[in-house]
Amino acid sequence: MTDNIIEKLYNSGNLTDSEFKLLIETDDKDDVKLLTKYADETRQKYYGKKVFLRGLIEISSYCKNNCLYCGIRRSNKNAERYRLSREEIMSCCENGYELGFRTFVMQGGEDSYFTDDFMCDIIHEVKEKFPDCAVTLSLGERSYESYRRLKEAGADRYLLRHETASDSLYRKLHPQEMSLKNRKKCLFNLRELGYQVGAGFMVGVPFQTTENIIEDLRFLQELKPHMIGIGPFIPHHDTPFADEKGGTLETTLRLLGILRLMFPKVLLPSTTALGTISPVGRELGLKTGCNVVMPNLSPVSVRKKYELYDNKICTGEESAECRVCLENRIKSAGYEISSERGDAL
Ligand code: 5AD
Ligand code: FES
Repeated sequence: MTDNIIEKLYNSGNLTDSEFKLLIETDDKDDVKLLTKYADETRQKYYGKKVFLRGLIEISSYCKNNCLYCGIRRSNKNAERYRLSREEIMSCCENGYELGFRTFVMQGGEDSYFTDDFMCDIIHEVKEKFPDCAVTLSLGERSYESYRRLKEAGADRYLLRHETASDSLYRKLHPQEMSLKNRKKCLFNLRELGYQVGAGFMVGVPFQTTENIIEDLRFLQELKPHMIGIGPFIPHHDTPFADEKGGTLETTLRLLGILRLMFPKVLLPSTTALGTISPVGRELGLKTGCNVVMPNLSPVSVRKKYELYDNKICTGEESAECRVCLENRIKSAGYEISSERGDAL
């Protein structure tokens, strides 16, 4: 039914809003098959069978923000808070380097403890010890000056999901003091400063409509990020959205396929959230255009505390196990791990 729409997306990388709507909402099995096939073909055309690894280090579960969907929001009094010391972060990197990682992602809540001085020192040290590695930060909204200093210290990339490009939906997911305008501004600042930038959104978050998702796609066309991180929304029991439905595997995969055809060269992670809603979620992601996975490198003792949503996987194992587990999953899906830094084409 929508096969000519899929052909059009494959050939031109773009659709009209009404065509996007049809494709996002179709439940025709043949359409889904064709989209998956083209997404995989497109990914293989540019990246072959390579899958890039990013070692994720969750440096702090403190957060000053109060996003309604997130398990580490400041009002969650049941959340256990921790911060990694500089030594602990360095030892995660050493461990990761041994395991073959050439990108370290330092992610955390918006925690004022991690000042620019503190982060710059860590970035310098990582870059000095591991000059062949990329440093990615994912520390939320900061000032232009802060992003500038971190870049100068050696940070290469920054992940900041826009979460939703719709003003009205943004309002329903965040408290008054946060603004979509500032978030978008941060993303454009990061790009201007020369970071490789990752944006993205959640699929199936409460109140989200197909029209909202199309707004996300349009925003991504404007921003042109190097990486796009999407995953299903998964309710967390200690948040206002505890009783809401989560995003589905089908819709997330659908959007991954669409994103691969819209942005043939983008870095597209098969996310932990996708692996959480289905035991084969990440493998299916890889078969639908994804070419990045982000194994958990955080110390085992803190993993359960960085609980953005319920039942998050990879909170028990040692980092070596995540590395091996993912290697097996990548192979079983028919792809191969790349030991390169994995910069965007
Ligand atoms: N379900 C799925 N993803 C979530 N995130 C935050 N809370 C949830 C949730 N409940 C995502 C956000 C954030 C990223 C680090 O995790 O998109 O940017
Ligand atoms: Fe962490 Fe499989 S990736 S256990």
